[in-house]
Amino acid sequence: MAERKPIISGNWKMNLNHFEAIQLVQKLSYALTKDDVEAVDVSIHPPFTDLRSVQTVLEADKIPIALGAQNCHWESSGAFTGEIAPVMLAKLNVSLVIAGHSERRQLFGETNQDVNRKIKAILNAEMTPIMACGETLEQREAGEMEEHIVTQITEGLSGIKSEHVADMVIAYEPIWAIGTGATATPEDAQEVCALVRATVGNLYTSGTADKVRIQYGGSVKPGTAPELMSQPDIDGALIGGAALSSEDFAHCIQYRLR
Ligand code: 13P
Repeated sequence: MAERKPIISGNWKMNLNHFEAIQLVQKLSYALTKDDVEAVDVSIHPPFTDLRSVQTVLEADKIPIALGAQNCHWESSGAFTGEIAPVMLAKLNVSLVIAGHSERRQLFGETNQDVNRKIKAILNAEMTPIMACGETLEQREAGEMEEHIVTQITEGLSGIKSEHVADMVIAYEPIWAIGTGATATPEDAQEVCALVRATVGNLYTSGTADKVRIQYGGSVKPGTAPELMSQPDIDGALIGGAALSSEDFAHCIQYRLR
C-alpha cells in the first residue's frame, strides 16, 4: 500500500481581511514546529483579497505552509465579471485550489460539470485540486448517500487522467457536519472515505486509488482530529472554523501528539 503523507488544510471561507490574515499566518508559524510540517502537509486557503499578502509573508519568512485558494473559474481570461482565473492564482504561487465545496454547490449552484471544468483548469495551471464531495442529511436519511457520492466523484473526475487523479486530493465533507459542531463519527467518516477510494479504484486502477489523498471535513476540532486521522482511508482534514484560530489549527495538525 502506498504511503500517503497526511494533508491538513484550513479553509478560511469568507473570513479575515488581509491584515488579520497576516497576523494569523504569523501566529501559526510560531505554533508549528519543523517536525509538524515534516510529518504533515499543511495548506491554508484565505479569501482572494488576502492571497498576495499571505504569499508575501509565507515567502519572506520561509514558512513551509502551502498557499491555497477556495475556488476559481475554469476559463483563463475573458468577460467573466467577478471571477478569478486559475493562471492568476498560479502566478501568486497558489498550489492547491478547492473545487466544488458544498457551499459553492448549494449557495451558488455549482454542478458536477462545473466542478469537472474547474478541476481540469486547475490541473492545466499546474496546481492541485482539492475536489469536495458530500451528502445532505436528507440524502443520508433517504439512503441516497452512496449513489450521490459515487455520482459526484464519477462526474467530477470525468475525462481526467489517472496520473492526475493519483496526485490530487478529494475532501469528503458531509454537509450536515459542516459548521454544526456535529462531526461525523470516525466510523461514519471512514466508511464514506473508503467508498470514495473504492470509486476511484473502479474508475481507474487500485494503484490510483491507493495514491489519492482523501480528507475528511466537517467540524474537525483538536479533540476529534486524532481519531479521525487514525482511520485507514482518512489522509487529512479540511478544516473551517478551527482553522481561524492558530492554536486550534496547530493542535489539529499536531494530532499525532495528542
Ligand atoms: P467546519 O470545520 O467549520 O465545519 O467547516 C468545514 C468545511 O466546510 C471546510 O471546508
